[in-house]
Amino acid sequence: MTTVSKLQANYLDRVVGLTETPQFSWAIETPFRNCRQTQYQIQIADNPSFKAPLFDTGMVESDQSAHIKVQQFLPEEGSTYWARVRVVTDSAGEGIATSPFSDCVTILGGLKNPALLKDSFITAETEDDRTSSKGTYLRKVITLEKEITSAVVFSTAQGVYQLHLNGKRVSSDELAPGWTSYDHRLLYQSYDVTEMLKTGENVLGAHLGSLWYKGTLSFLMIHNFYGDYASLSLRLVVQYADGSKETFTTDESWRGSYSPILNAQLYDGESYDASLEQDGWNQVGFDDKTWRKATRTACTAKYIEAQEGSPVTLHEVISPTLAFTTQKGERVIDFGQNMSALPEIRGQGKAGETIVLRCFEVLDKDGNVYTENIRRAEQRITYVLKDDKPFVYRPHFTFFGFRFIHVESFAGRADLDNFKAYVIHSDMQPTGRFSCSNPDLNQLQHNILWGLKSNFVDVPTDCPQRDERLGWTGDAQIFCQTASYNVNTYTFFKKWLRDLALDQTKEGGVPHVVPDVLYKYPFDNWLLNKGTHSATAWADAAIINPWVLYLTFGDTAILKTQYQSMKGWIDFMQKHAENNIWNYKLQFGDWVALDAEEGSYFGATPNDLTCTAYYAYSTNLFVKVARILGKEDVAKQYEDLYKKIVKTFQKTFFAEDGSMTAQTQTAHILALHFNLAPEQFVGKTVENLKKLLAKHGGHLVTGFVGTPYFCHALSSNGCLDEAYALLLKDDFPSWLYQIKKGATTVWEHWDGIKPDGSMWSPNMNSFNHYAYGAIGEWLYRVVGGLDIDEKAPGYKHAIIAPRIGGNLGWVEAAYQSVYGEVGVRWQRDDKTHAVTLRVTIPANTTASIRLMDGATLIDADTLEFVQRNDFLEAQAGSGVYTIRYKLAR
Ligand code: BGC
Repeated sequence: MTTVSKLQANYLDRVVGLTETPQFSWAIETPFRNCRQTQYQIQIADNPSFKAPLFDTGMVESDQSAHIKVQQFLPEEGSTYWARVRVVTDSAGEGIATSPFSDCVTILGGLKNPALLKDSFITAETEDDRTSSKGTYLRKVITLEKEITSAVVFSTAQGVYQLHLNGKRVSSDELAPGWTSYDHRLLYQSYDVTEMLKTGENVLGAHLGSLWYKGTLSFLMIHNFYGDYASLSLRLVVQYADGSKETFTTDESWRGSYSPILNAQLYDGESYDASLEQDGWNQVGFDDKTWRKATRTACTAKYIEAQEGSPVTLHEVISPTLAFTTQKGERVIDFGQNMSALPEIRGQGKAGETIVLRCFEVLDKDGNVYTENIRRAEQRITYVLKDDKPFVYRPHFTFFGFRFIHVESFAGRADLDNFKAYVIHSDMQPTGRFSCSNPDLNQLQHNILWGLKSNFVDVPTDCPQRDERLGWTGDAQIFCQTASYNVNTYTFFKKWLRDLALDQTKEGGVPHVVPDVLYKYPFDNWLLNKGTHSATAWADAAIINPWVLYLTFGDTAILKTQYQSMKGWIDFMQKHAENNIWNYKLQFGDWVALDAEEGSYFGATPNDLTCTAYYAYSTNLFVKVARILGKEDVAKQYEDLYKKIVKTFQKTFFAEDGSMTAQTQTAHILALHFNLAPEQFVGKTVENLKKLLAKHGGHLVTGFVGTPYFCHALSSNGCLDEAYALLLKDDFPSWLYQIKKGATTVWEHWDGIKPDGSMWSPNMNSFNHYAYGAIGEWLYRVVGGLDIDEKAPGYKHAIIAPRIGGNLGWVEAAYQSVYGEVGVRWQRDDKTHAVTLRVTIPANTTASIRLMDGATLIDADTLEFVQRNDFLEAQAGSGVYTIRYKLAR
């Protein structure tokens, strides 16, 4: 039977705070091949039984099953809607069939006028608390006289908050409202609280902390970056059975107090005195006479907007694997996994006893606690016991990047049972799977995924542990495609890209970090004195990230939304380029490449070259974007520019004999991967890259710019064996070297831990940086062979072209696209060179299946393969196919 699964609105199962028409997509499940949708019907109702639907499209003739808007439908403030879909399909074997209606997706209407929230911020903090990062409580008793039919609360904070109603947390969100460019905008959350309210007295309570808003931020150790008071603003809208409505807001009638949190900060952790707990503070009957009146405080953001999805939440609960005492006598708990998490501690002791813990990533050479690399981040938990009863405590307004806990003091001897770790990150659906016969590569995939989880805590960050944790644009750019294979990144990056656009300079320059926290105050920093925005490969996130989302989801909406931002960035480069060579103030270049001079972070590839290469690449992407959006004039204009940049690049960075002026791996990689080498010199460039690889014994010495594309540059230019050899190297420096050294997340430096066990300088040595995990894209795209067709993106038409190689006996890769799962499994017999290739193509999509160069078919299933250049290719409709063929060697 044909059914509809995975109906989503705006790429989410539940979308909240919506004021615009949602956009629907769904997958079709069927055992029959060549399944095409011919019609669909969407219904939207204000009840889950779909009695008298509000909207019914009727059967619409269309093969479109993604990006569909029901134009007439606009969600109303605070109303919940249910939407469902059914489809008519035509498949081989089944013919025309009508599916039953799908499961529902729900939509909660957002605030009509979110600006109202700007006027009702209240705080429990006093003047003296301006620079403190204590926790505070706010509470208010409200009386509901009538029978309630529904209630929704729209709330936000300057700082972070947890909302309570009648003694219970209103949601499982952590660190709400998340981190946006607070000067510009703040997100509000929308919670349906119908079930939590009762007729009579109810208590609204909020626990607030300072975190990004007013706590210490960035390695510049800036306090109060955005404002001085942690504050709350909310609107509770209650709908009564008699049809009337009542709205409650935050005002001076609320009461406030300090909470037991003495200090909670991004880098320092949390200090909590349980003796200051006030039982029942968030419930009816609590005496708040000693509390002070809340005071109003200004909203420092210009706009308040809805958070639609991807809130930060808790995920896996990890139990420690080992408790031990180091040579130096330090008590250490090992969780076996580097991660972003909140440790939970439980125990029993005496009143007043203090527990002190520090979270850290790695042990030193001798197996002792090593915290130098987390720099000025304390990552400390201090907990004071209130009595001799058993306690359980988990920090509230911080998070930690760690694998180990150093127990500096505890109530008794700390052991495994005393600890758990709650993994924390933005809530995004997993979309990708990659596994293969090589356990080291599987560990690499694992490390990439854990790097992603650790660094997607509302903002794509460089690292989750040291005094940084910033939205470095370069890291986010490099890793975007890999991330987008592994999880559904749409809402997450859409949010971040809006902040990027808002943070651009008037001229279109793009900050090094988004939210931009490097521009505001006069500071003296050896590096940033040179510039705080517009570095190549970093700023190009403005173009590359929306482009990756477009390819992954096939949705032009993101291109439309980001269009001005993209154009702004290209125009900025053009304005500051000289004779088509682009370079500007502070450049990070091929950051942390191994061909840097001793002690330097800057790789050997000259900035003129990397900058101009990216200038060309991004301009070319922008031309495509303009064309997709129907702006042919713009496309033509920038196409001319693109051609000029390419010409200049070729003239400047290639000598007459076809050799490159910069003899670095990265220079050659960029020239090849960005198609910048003159046609007649492509072969020579490839040969020279191979030489540069051989010069280092087949090892890479590349940094942030060259590394992500190294394997592509080889495999797209006839050097698949070399690409696999590079991937599978496991001595220093390589991806798998880290694995051999026990890494559980991807390192910032190839030489984070050197072969002799010593460490790279503690100044900059994260063991949880996702950037080099960008190789994940090559695993999915080339090893697994799941490629996107630019002409029909979002996997509407996929290109399935697994490149079999290395020592791999089998590979399994799958991606949960908006249309359903597209997957590959290949297995090869080493002796006979026979390959069995199983391909899954989701209903309502098609794919081109490409075999390896020179292959001979054994069994084509039902497909018809034709010779195209060096390879055989078949066009396939949806279904599962098993093809057998023999490799040329
Ligand atoms: C970060 C990097 C970032 C870089 C800029 C570092 O401190 O951790 O990942 O991109 O600065 O060069």
